[in-house]
Amino acid sequence: MSQPSNRPPREFTHLYKGVRFPWMAPRSSLEALPTFQVRQDDIWLLTYSKAGTTWTDDIVNKILLYSGIRTDDDPDIDSAPYVEFSIGPQSNQELLSAAPSPRVITSHVLPEFLPTQIYQNKPKIIYIARNPKDIITSYLYHFKVIPIDEDYTSIRSIMDHFTSGNIIYGEWPCHVIHWWKKRHEENVLFLKYEDMKKDLKSAVAKIVQFLGINLDSKTITLIAEQTTIEATKQRKIKPKDYLLKKFNLSTDTSPFVRKGMVGDWKNHFSVVESEEFDKWYKEAMGDIDLTFQFE
Ligand code: A3P
Repeated sequence: MSQPSNRPPREFTHLYKGVRFPWMAPRSSLEALPTFQVRQDDIWLLTYSKAGTTWTDDIVNKILLYSGIRTDDDPDIDSAPYVEFSIGPQSNQELLSAAPSPRVITSHVLPEFLPTQIYQNKPKIIYIARNPKDIITSYLYHFKVIPIDEDYTSIRSIMDHFTSGNIIYGEWPCHVIHWWKKRHEENVLFLKYEDMKKDLKSAVAKIVQFLGINLDSKTITLIAEQTTIEATKQRKIKPKDYLLKKFNLSTDTSPFVRKGMVGDWKNHFSVVESEEFDKWYKEAMGDIDLTFQFE
């Protein structure tokens, strides 16, 4: 498997403490992140990129709307801002500091970059994990729409960067294993994308229960129906404005809603790529008792 290269940062990515980040997560935000004030009633949605973040954000937002905890359903309001992003005149950390509770906060960063208070104040943490072959496949299409790095154009190149850790947000095994080990902690809900696909109503019910919210079974079913991939596609979630402007995207093209299936990697990986990946995966995961459904 390829070694981490020392390529110079591309136009849209940069290195911070040895990890590659996209331009939306600038050094200033990453430097401020460890001291960001975490509230006990925050809901943190933590994922590796392409693991189903937008989907879960949508589910959590609907739970808060249907339970009356939130009242806004304005698509222009960011319902779960990325804590590491700074896009406008104010950083998301500044915007979030002024936001009312309960805040829903998203992040892709590796555990060591998170605010230290996340481990002390114990907000609710929802972690979504997805099989890495589908993450790589999803990345292929994501980077077609948002070309942040000239190297991310084939399964081979993305896979090589993914396995070397020289990809935006860094090493996937460190991310997923950290939260898997914390899955029994009271304030952590660890879900797998594949299980959500298999039984979305149960996944919604688990999130509702974890958040300590009272919602009847009919509403839980409704939320599950409204957040299937088919329903999500029909609603045409448009990309955020900063992405539209920066990459001149069409509002119909969302890199966050595509096929939404388990096992699409089989349509993209060659046999050789798949075998190479499996070898790396076995070594990288060691004897950890975390398994994924790959098809
Ligand atoms: P695919 O590219 O494999 O289709 P993220 O939001 O973390 O970037 O993840 C994006 C992935 O989640 C994409 O995967 C996207 O299609 C999938 N996704 C988005 N909404 C979904 C939904 N309602 N159900 C299932 N998958 C969904």
